[in-house]
Amino acid sequence: MGYTKIEEVPAVCGFIRMCTDGWEQGWHERNGGNLTYRMSKKDVEETRPFFDAEPREWVNMGVQADNLKGAYFITTGSGKFMRNVQLDAASNIGIVEINDAGDSWRIVWGLAGGARPTSEFPSHFLNHSVRLAATNGANRVIYHCHATNVIALTFILPLDDRTFSRVLWKSMTECPVIFPEGIGVVPWMVPGGAEIARATSKLMTKYQAAVWAHHGLFVSGPDFDTAFGLAHTIEKSAEIYMKILSSGKPILQTITDDDLRAIEPAFHITLNRDFLD
Ligand code: 13P
Ligand code: ZN
Repeated sequence: MGYTKIEEVPAVCGFIRMCTDGWEQGWHERNGGNLTYRMSKKDVEETRPFFDAEPREWVNMGVQADNLKGAYFITTGSGKFMRNVQLDAASNIGIVEINDAGDSWRIVWGLAGGARPTSEFPSHFLNHSVRLAATNGANRVIYHCHATNVIALTFILPLDDRTFSRVLWKSMTECPVIFPEGIGVVPWMVPGGAEIARATSKLMTKYQAAVWAHHGLFVSGPDFDTAFGLAHTIEKSAEIYMKILSSGKPILQTITDDDLRAIEPAFHITLNRDFLD
């Protein structure tokens, strides 16, 4: 079946919706945050009729992945605003193809007027590679947002995986069900480029999500709903914890480690033992 507009293709439509959802949450001031989606063969065939007659030039990424050779991604543009994606997709997002060496991209659709993929494309790319391997190919979405309360927490909690995982698990009952392995924490680093990409992808071999200190949140998922839902859950739990602290009242009770263990059989999960007392 053909489509009259690329925005009607389900993968593109879902991508645009997620950009709008993130904007509506207040996580994407100005050009903050970025989204990439690894396309299926079907997605590529459905969008191919809209590709440019001539793809643009290859651009080396500074990172490489064997398991993403020849892959296609939908990506937000660098410096583009999430709030504008729904109004003009071709100017704010694009489709890139990865070369046979797995180290360069070229634009085949969108990113009009000389725009380029997000400056965090190296991070997205390496994390797609790691999550693809960790999930036997299920992972397709990588999302970075400037989630307000997650950022706030990075000023008042020690920057380690265990502390963040425990605070988030204990601030809202269903958090341990959604990320039983916990969450990683990347110390403050210069945004964009290969260094933050490598530090994040090291953590994402074991976690679905990582906090970037004083910067934001980085999550993965098999589809837009699951990835967005994970970011939403983590940010909401951080918000609850911030509200508790902001109330200035002493914490009278919380979810105990025994409570956390009690959740396991009911939800068929195993919590990361390193993070339980
Ligand atoms: P881009 O506009 O290049 O996507 O950068 C935004 C951002 O959040 C960098 O971390
Ligand atoms: Zn950012």
